[in-house]
Amino acid sequence: MKNFPTTATHPTGLRSRKVDLEQLTSSDYNKHHHPRGKDMFGRIKPFCEWLKTLKDTNLFLYSRRTLSPPGPECYGMDEFGESFYGLNFASADYLGLSQSESSKQAAIEAAQEYGVNSCGSPLAFGGHKYYYQLVEELKEFWGVDNIMLLSAGWLAGFGAIKGLVKANDHVVMDALDHNCLLEGAKAATKNIYKVKHLCNESMEAKIKELREKYPDEGIFVVTEGLFSMDADTANLVELQKITKKYDAFLMIDSAHDFGCMGPTGKGTWEAQGLTDLSNVLLMAGGSKCLSTNLGFIGCQNPDVIEYLKVHCTAYMFTNAVNPIQCNTALAQLRILKSEYGNQIRNKCIENYNYTKKKLNDLGYKIIGNPCPIMIVYIGNEIICRLVSRLMMDNGVHVNGIEYPVVAENEARLRLNLQPQHSFENMDIFVDTFDKVYKQSVKIFEEALEDFQKKMELKQIEEEKKEQLQHKTDSKL
Ligand SMILES: Cc1ncc(COP(=O)(O)O)c(C=O)c1O
Repeated sequence: MKNFPTTATHPTGLRSRKVDLEQLTSSDYNKHHHPRGKDMFGRIKPFCEWLKTLKDTNLFLYSRRTLSPPGPECYGMDEFGESFYGLNFASADYLGLSQSESSKQAAIEAAQEYGVNSCGSPLAFGGHKYYYQLVEELKEFWGVDNIMLLSAGWLAGFGAIKGLVKANDHVVMDALDHNCLLEGAKAATKNIYKVKHLCNESMEAKIKELREKYPDEGIFVVTEGLFSMDADTANLVELQKITKKYDAFLMIDSAHDFGCMGPTGKGTWEAQGLTDLSNVLLMAGGSKCLSTNLGFIGCQNPDVIEYLKVHCTAYMFTNAVNPIQCNTALAQLRILKSEYGNQIRNKCIENYNYTKKKLNDLGYKIIGNPCPIMIVYIGNEIICRLVSRLMMDNGVHVNGIEYPVVAENEARLRLNLQPQHSFENMDIFVDTFDKVYKQSVKIFEEALEDFQKKMELKQIEEEKKEQLQHKTDSKL
């Protein structure tokens, strides 16, 4: 890469820092999630203090920024100005198209022709040539007859559920469904049921129970085409059959699998051979594989999309996707359809299989199935924070994921693979991870020992105090 230094300018952090477990575990995220009291600004202070501890010890996982294009290598900086350079497994650019020349050109052309704003909701003169062109080409690519566009995948997920589900309906969700789906369901009805992750048996039991109890109410089942924190998927063909059997409807959020999964990139539903879409609502986004901000909802039933256009508030009451994003998405879509599209989809899976084998051989646990997301399971949150930080110090940038994004004590690394990553890059990842993981466990164990010693001393002090008190009391 040009213009950037080839090593981290500030090899940082933990080498000079010790982990103080007492400080780090003295309070947690959960405790601060629902503060109460009339001082609405004051009551959030304890959370910010907890956050500060993480930041001071250099173990805050988030808010790092890229200072170069988010390619397979990047130059970046953390919140405190400490910069780093190295391999990048943190950018969600699954097909590495964020730098495609044709999309950059498309963005320029659209800006020159239309300017930079859509200047209105799609219902109020915000639609434009590229907007409707994208709708048509998406229909053809996805094999779905009716499509509407929104400004982000989050809005599409939220908006589809909020628009379609009514207060008396019932929403049955996979326990790990994305935040936009849960928020949409919560905004629509109180009747929400979370079912064990990927378990179609539990799904059927819940749907059957609801259908027997509520023969005339709507039942909407919501799942994802690819769960990004676990890299896994339900059996969608079976799930669709279950929903149909009980006159229920199925929504599949394909935010992560659109473009990269299935023989032609339609998503996991294509890969699994789901062909009956008669009771299915599909939703996806552009941020992962089209490398542009976009959301879309599709359905074979035209009435559903017509209805949502005037009942989905995330569509009606917001600016239409602008010409630049629509034309960028069009250029990317044409890549997805090409032979090169097939090649980059395949390369991601090759990278996955290659790396998984190496990590498994070293005894590490990879969860999920081959896809552009690789989940390296760690468990302990502090070790995960240490690993993520030390990886960065060693020139490999990867996101650590912890509670509340995943369950407590189920922390993990989430690698976003790009087709531009070479096997040599993957070797560097594996070697660095192996070295850094061992180092992190050692730091953690030392911290634990210190912590236990401190606790023992504290207990001895308390016992002494009690004895003293006892003596004083008996003298009196
Ligand atoms: C399942 C799921 N749906 C929707 C979204 C939101 O997508 P977007 O980034 O396009 O808003 C995400 C984000 O990654 C997601 O994981």
